[in-house]
Amino acid sequence: MKKKLIVGNWKMNGSLAANEALVQALRAGWPAAADCDVAVAVPSPYLAQVQSLVDASGIALAAQDVSQHDAGAYTGEVSAPMLRDFGVRYVLVGHSERRQLHGEGDAAVAEKAQRALAAGITPIVCVGETLAEREAGQTEAVVRRQLAAVVHRNGRCISEVVVAYEPIWAIGTGHTATPAQAQQVHAALRAQLAAASAHAPAMRLLYGGSMNASNAAQLLAEPDIDGGLVGGASLKAPDFLSIIAAAR
Ligand code: PGA
Repeated sequence: MKKKLIVGNWKMNGSLAANEALVQALRAGWPAAADCDVAVAVPSPYLAQVQSLVDASGIALAAQDVSQHDAGAYTGEVSAPMLRDFGVRYVLVGHSERRQLHGEGDAAVAEKAQRALAAGITPIVCVGETLAEREAGQTEAVVRRQLAAVVHRNGRCISEVVVAYEPIWAIGTGHTATPAQAQQVHAALRAQLAAASAHAPAMRLLYGGSMNASNAAQLLAEPDIDGGLVGGASLKAPDFLSIIAAAR
């Protein structure tokens, strides 16, 4: 059985002191019965700090973004090999905040996934629709288009990718998708992946968008929801630990 994967997305939050307190609280409160994979996606300047804080714990290190380029004159960018140097195991690509606030398109997201894979880092490819797109009945068309670009560019490696479905209207709003709404989109994504890879059943599809301690168990009980990408609730150790305990 594949293990569920719970990823905390700290976004642009934290400090040396706050990161240390948070990771120590996670380590101290680790549920004895935890049976999932866990990672935290931290701001780049803190990769080295958190790499040592999570050493020999059940927590893997993730980054929040990666350059679509390998090296060179790209001021401000961080490459996949650089992330690898700091023991990064996963990287978010195509988070809606990057797509919406930083103009990242499907092609760039697909290239980022490719750079990560080439460096031995698992990309967590984020897809999701706006409220207007959902209300116009376009949800599946939008997420299929976003995923298709990544599938097309990454061919046979696609089974190495993790996909995160994050409806934009649910991110940071407290309006979680219902388990049925999320499952419907996850099933469509799984079918799309199955057309590209025989390994689609073993791939992990995460749900993200206001996942918290009280709704995680219900969401994670759906057959095609294999984990969570958790923003706000990942900054509070008791809440994140509850979600980890619910992932089985
Ligand atoms: P949220 O964020 O859990 O705060 O809604 C999720 C995300 O953006 O990854």
